[in-house]
Amino acid sequence: MMAERRKDQIKVAIFMTGDANYHSAGWRLPDAYADVGTSLEHWIEFAKTMERGKLDMLFLADGIGTHGIDNLEGTRHNPKLDRMEPFTLLGALASVTTHLGLAATAHTAYNEPYHIARKFASLDHLSGGRTGWNIVTGANAEDALNFSRERHAPIAERYDMAEEFTDVCIGLWDSYEDGAFLRDQESGVYVDTDKLHVLNHKGKYFQVKGPLSLARPPQGHPVLIQAGMSEPARELSARVADAVFTSQPTIEEAKAFYQDVKARTAKYGRNPDDLKVLAGVVLFTGKTADEAEEKYDHLFSLTNMTASLSLVGQRLGGIDLTKYPLDEPVPDFQGNDVRASNAPLAARMARRENLTLRGLIKRYTAGGPHALMKGTPKQVADELEQWFVEGAADGFIFMPVSVPHALDDIVDLLIPELQRRGLFRTEYEGKTLRENLGVARPENTFLVKARN
Ligand SMILES: Cc1cc2nc3c(=O)[nH]c(=O)nc-3n(C[C@H](O)[C@H](O)[C@H](O)COP(=O)(O)O)c2cc1C
Repeated sequence: MMAERRKDQIKVAIFMTGDANYHSAGWRLPDAYADVGTSLEHWIEFAKTMERGKLDMLFLADGIGTHGIDNLEGTRHNPKLDRMEPFTLLGALASVTTHLGLAATAHTAYNEPYHIARKFASLDHLSGGRTGWNIVTGANAEDALNFSRERHAPIAERYDMAEEFTDVCIGLWDSYEDGAFLRDQESGVYVDTDKLHVLNHKGKYFQVKGPLSLARPPQGHPVLIQAGMSEPARELSARVADAVFTSQPTIEEAKAFYQDVKARTAKYGRNPDDLKVLAGVVLFTGKTADEAEEKYDHLFSLTNMTASLSLVGQRLGGIDLTKYPLDEPVPDFQGNDVRASNAPLAARMARRENLTLRGLIKRYTAGGPHALMKGTPKQVADELEQWFVEGAADGFIFMPVSVPHALDDIVDLLIPELQRRGLFRTEYEGKTLRENLGVARPENTFLVKARN
């Protein structure tokens, strides 16, 4: 029996970091941009392309530490070394775009909530309500070394801290009710202090008096996106997030995750629809399925094995992969204190697809733990439609394997195919990211508390 057609439409974001190519050899294709890490010009082009395609948002990943720096052979081939600080880059892009959502990754382990609340509030004002926060607790073990620490705190503690961090930010954004700033030149009253709320937070990890030094953001709070898949990460998503960014290699795993996080929203008094599930997808498209497959093989042939072992080891939470034979089955990797979910997910993927370590490296340098879809735009659209219609995702976060062409292909070939099927918008619904994603503007939490 055909699944009943959903009435909403697919949400689409583009994930980029550093060199902007998700594939570590993407920069080596002859027509690829190899200097994206430091080029505003290229970023402006990408943002305008995304807006031309009516995409929901540019999603900037970030890592504050540099992985594997002691391995100089791997480092020599690592295109992810130079990347701009997300708020600075998105601030520049806010002024050349009008509708595109601008999501920045910001860590809760190595920042102070006041700084992060202030930066997001500023960016939300600058962009007219288009920001999103990718709340992360840190994927890279080396992050700690730049912040006077020797290692990451264990996962459970990092998420405990993330819960408090997020609540403090929410309290700070709500420092002033909407309309508090009267700026009445006649009377000289600048702000209505009845609409001011001083947070006075004293918690386990943070002490923050408030108020924030800025009016409430146009969206109330930036769109809150949670990227993490372990047990405490799912709880954080269910309690506060507007969207969860997840890596699910198969439709079956994606459906199970979708049902799980949506079901968790009830205990926090929320509806499943309040939390959008956005699945990461790496695409290889071509005029024929064979051409797409050739692109996949060709890009792998351009990778360096030392660098790939280091990169994939990092994606699995800092596992030393050099100690395992390349052409034998993948060991039964376990999660660790850096990442709980990725290593077991990779081991499951390897067993299911019968991959040796070399096969896993090929799969991971291309698509990491995300879904990998190869084929013509029509074949890929079929697969995306199935994920959407069958309730495996509310939208997708695409990772272009090489820029600008893989991004252009998404906007010029795939998006029109989704539009023809009525699965994707032809005009933006609104001007803010919340309006386009279909997530409500939150009420001021101080007013909610006063009412209850
Ligand atoms: C899809 C996805 C994207 C992520 N993006 C980032 C990122 O850009 N920067 C970062 O430091 N951590 C990132 N993380 C790491 C998470 O914040 C988290 O620390 C890590 O995944 C460990 O928790 P988990 O086992 O719950 O996933 C990401 C995680 C996932 C699942």
